[in-house]
Amino acid sequence: MDMFSIKGKTALITGSGRGIGYAIAEALASQGASIILSDINVQLVKESAEKLQQAYPDVQVRYLIFDVTKKEEIEQAMKILYEEDGGLDILVNNAGINLRDRVENLSDETWQRMLDTNLTSVFRVSRAALPLLQARGAGKVVNLCSLMSEIARPTVSPYASTKGAVKQFTRALATEWAEYNIQVNGIAPGFIATDMNTALMSDKDLNDYIIRHTPAKRWGKPSEVGSVVAFLVSPAADFVTGQMIFIDGGFIISL
Ligand code: NAP
Ligand code: GCO
Repeated sequence: MDMFSIKGKTALITGSGRGIGYAIAEALASQGASIILSDINVQLVKESAEKLQQAYPDVQVRYLIFDVTKKEEIEQAMKILYEEDGGLDILVNNAGINLRDRVENLSDETWQRMLDTNLTSVFRVSRAALPLLQARGAGKVVNLCSLMSEIARPTVSPYASTKGAVKQFTRALATEWAEYNIQVNGIAPGFIATDMNTALMSDKDLNDYIIRHTPAKRWGKPSEVGSVVAFLVSPAADFVTGQMIFIDGGFIISL
């Protein structure tokens, strides 16, 4: 058996209409997995699903519309999935936002929206997905952590706080779900060129600093995140759980 093959598996990736989530979907489809995209932008996710299906005609591509901050929508999505498939093999908790400002300027509403989108969603979607993962007798969960799970900079306190918590939630969940043969890991992308970072890429000083400080001397590509997820959700990583893998061009290890 090809230890990296996920042929015939089904993967749900939250927030996958674009960016890293869509790149993860492409990577898993390229390895033979059927894909369920999900997002809140209906037109976008429809177009993305069509694009992915054209690129990978040998796998099934579907989509679900649900807001990861809405418990009822999460549970309805999992109900639909259970009725359609009777289970799920791979869950990627990818949806996330980064609303930046200094602490003294942050409103309660902004702070709460960050918690709801980046952290509570991972708990709620994972909890709702458990019966589907258990139905398969084995499963993989990958949570989107961040370089900011470990370090910080001014204006990212809500983001760093949520991503630090997702790192610890990943570890805690891994200890609980190992007995179900479900491996739970995190990935910590560094500075990846997506819409989330257009403000940084257009700030010359900050962009120059990021390039200078990254040993690889460049921004990462979303596809370079997807490939690591493809490894983590394959049989090759069945003994890897509770880990967080940096995908950052060396940023975290460099002075
Ligand atoms: P992005 O380009 O802004 O895409 C975020 C995706 O999440 C979009 O598809 C967005 O949907 C979706 N989303 C946002 N709120 C949602 C909600 N409430 N329910 C469902 N979907 C929602 O961001 P990205 O760079 O791809 O980031 C994806 C993940 O990687 C995030 O968790 C982020 O924290 C993490 N990450 C990114 C980087 C980086 O450098 N880019 C580094 C480390 C970690 P819409 O299209 O409808 O807005
Ligand atoms: C920022 C960036 C970072 C990166 C990434 C680092 O504002 O500093 O958005 O947070 O996106 O999360 O891992």
